[in-house]
Amino acid sequence: MKTKKINRPFKINYAPPPDKSISHRALIFLSIARGKAVIENLSNCEDVIRTKKALKKIGYKIIDKGNHCIVYGNPELRINRKMAIDCGESGTTIRLLSGLIAAISNKEILLKSKKSLTKRKMVNLKKALSKMNIKIKLKKEYPPIKILPSKIKDAICETKSAQVKSALLIAAIKSGKRITIKEKNETRTHSENILKYLGANLEKSKNKLTLKSSILKSKKIKVPGDLSSAIYFIAAAILNKGSKIEIKNTTLNKGRIGILRILKKMNAKINWLYTKNKMDDIGNISAKYSPKLKAIKINKNILYKMIDELPILALIATKAEGTTEIELIKELKNKESDRIKATLDILNRLKIKYRFKDNILKIKGPNKLNGGFKHNGFNDHRILMTLFIAGLFTDKPIEITNSRNLKKSYPEFIKDLKLLYKNH
Ligand code: S3P
Repeated sequence: MKTKKINRPFKINYAPPPDKSISHRALIFLSIARGKAVIENLSNCEDVIRTKKALKKIGYKIIDKGNHCIVYGNPELRINRKMAIDCGESGTTIRLLSGLIAAISNKEILLKSKKSLTKRKMVNLKKALSKMNIKIKLKKEYPPIKILPSKIKDAICETKSAQVKSALLIAAIKSGKRITIKEKNETRTHSENILKYLGANLEKSKNKLTLKSSILKSKKIKVPGDLSSAIYFIAAAILNKGSKIEIKNTTLNKGRIGILRILKKMNAKINWLYTKNKMDDIGNISAKYSPKLKAIKINKNILYKMIDELPILALIATKAEGTTEIELIKELKNKESDRIKATLDILNRLKIKYRFKDNILKIKGPNKLNGGFKHNGFNDHRILMTLFIAGLFTDKPIEITNSRNLKKSYPEFIKDLKLLYKNH
């Protein structure tokens, strides 16, 4: 598939797809809560479908009804037989379910993986869970994960990953044990927010979170739009002359909006406004063409609050005046692709001058983007989406040789991209 240059302004009201992170968590937390509840606007991306199928295989009852689904909570459910569960390529599924299964199973359970997930290290998950006395076996450092029957205990842990944090919280809530989690740099807080919303006994102080034995009560969850998907369209509006985008009801969780804060500092014309919500931080965003983007220095601490946005940030930086400096973190190497390598590769292919030394990426701008190359996006959905947005501005098209993996988080991406070319 070839990318297509955009030759005119667009002004759109854009509805992002449902948030992937919140969709996984809504399914899991409502499955273990008491009572029946509806999830509205659940994501239909491949990763979330994996979580839903896995929960059904374990024995939870989830009924799909068009654009909503009903989850019949079953706090008593236990796994009493050996089984293997396929997590596909979904990192969130395999990590979060590790915590759940460890707490509800007295048999060995195998969590299997496919393609990119088979290459993602699970050592940090294993270390963190071991503090609770949960025993898992890896194949060297990678999936498949074998969860062994474990006698779970209270624990104090530290982590830099929202998925590992969530696995710990789920194991704790299901085993009735107490967990304290320390985070130097707070990551997305969807799990804590949903737990609180469902009535968990959770205390939070600076950089520390304690969950005590609690009963969860089901409540309706309405999934907001996904900021990590919307960001590609926000980038298009910021970079395309005369364009404007309005977005309603999207996640504005404090652990996700790092990219918005960075864009604002870069002089982008972007604003966001929180709206009332009982469960999580959500709101509206508006952004428009920003001809005076300036380079800034970006400290690694904020990267934890925009963990999926490095590739698109690097692309935006190519259009900023001056040298943007981004301090990178090693966690970026353990995504669907090595996102540091992948980002540098895209910059190379677009013929952008950059320097990468001592974990600092320096990108000099503003630059013209050169197309005329083929790329498979390393089969990483976020690299693919970045390439499609780059292709709106390249002199020649980019030929994307495999866009299948867009389905991982954003099945409707190509359809939504076409909105930009319509008459406005
Ligand atoms: C996610 C956390 C992040 C992120 C992923 C979704 C989550 O992963 O990259 O896309 O839903 O908790 P890590 O926890 O591995 O940083």
